[in-house]
Amino acid sequence: METPAMHHLTEIDYEHVYEPAEDTFLMMDALEKDLDDISSMCPLVIVEVCAGTGIISASLSHALSQTAFFIAADINQYACKASYNTMKLNGSQTFQVIRSDLLSCLGSGFVDILICNPPYVPTSDEELNSADALTCSWAGGKNGRKVMDRLFNDVSRLMSPGGKFYILVLKENQPCEIIEFFHGKGFECVNILSRKAGRENLSVIKFTKSKIV
Ligand SMILES: C[S@@+](CC[C@H](N)C(=O)[O-])C[C@H]1O[C@@H](n2cnc3c(N)ncnc32)[C@H](O)[C@@H]1O
Repeated sequence: METPAMHHLTEIDYEHVYEPAEDTFLMMDALEKDLDDISSMCPLVIVEVCAGTGIISASLSHALSQTAFFIAADINQYACKASYNTMKLNGSQTFQVIRSDLLSCLGSGFVDILICNPPYVPTSDEELNSADALTCSWAGGKNGRKVMDRLFNDVSRLMSPGGKFYILVLKENQPCEIIEFFHGKGFECVNILSRKAGRENLSVIKFTKSKIV
């Protein structure tokens, strides 16, 4: 997958929006590794929550030759603006950007592919509830799970039968417990890619919803 053009974003933008880093590129590499599987299901709707600059959506949209409709969601208004401009600059035409707290505003059962690189760093509750947009982009509260756990409770409702959910996690997020949670909901789980980035042990896990509803 090509790295999208990002020259519209400057250092000033990165004072308010999470700058693509090792975790971002791990997610892009994982999606590239799984591209045949993604393409073979001819996804109609792809949602990225916690989209940041929108680089992951823009890259996947290009790789799929703009055949799917993308929704990029972020709670940070600067990230929403950045995502919109990244998608436009890289030729995406069928997309929408929404400012929202996770995805409770979306209807049920229509998301074919869901992607999330969430705030995953274990922090205090004080950092989790920070008013600073950049702190909110990495602060994950206890075990780094506070934001992602809220999303996990909504994934089954959002996904279409056979839909695939790609999530980036840190070792401290206790991936085995997350896998157990999704097994309990009838999802298949595969570790797509793991990488050590500095002190962080990161993985992208794919959860596939059963085709039988
Ligand atoms: C680790 S950054 C990832 C950004 C981008 N996807 C990337 O990989 O470079 C996490 C993003 O989640 C967003 N975020 C944090 N809490 C959120 C929430 N409750 N709902 C939606 N987005 C949230 C932050 O604003 C930030 O852009």
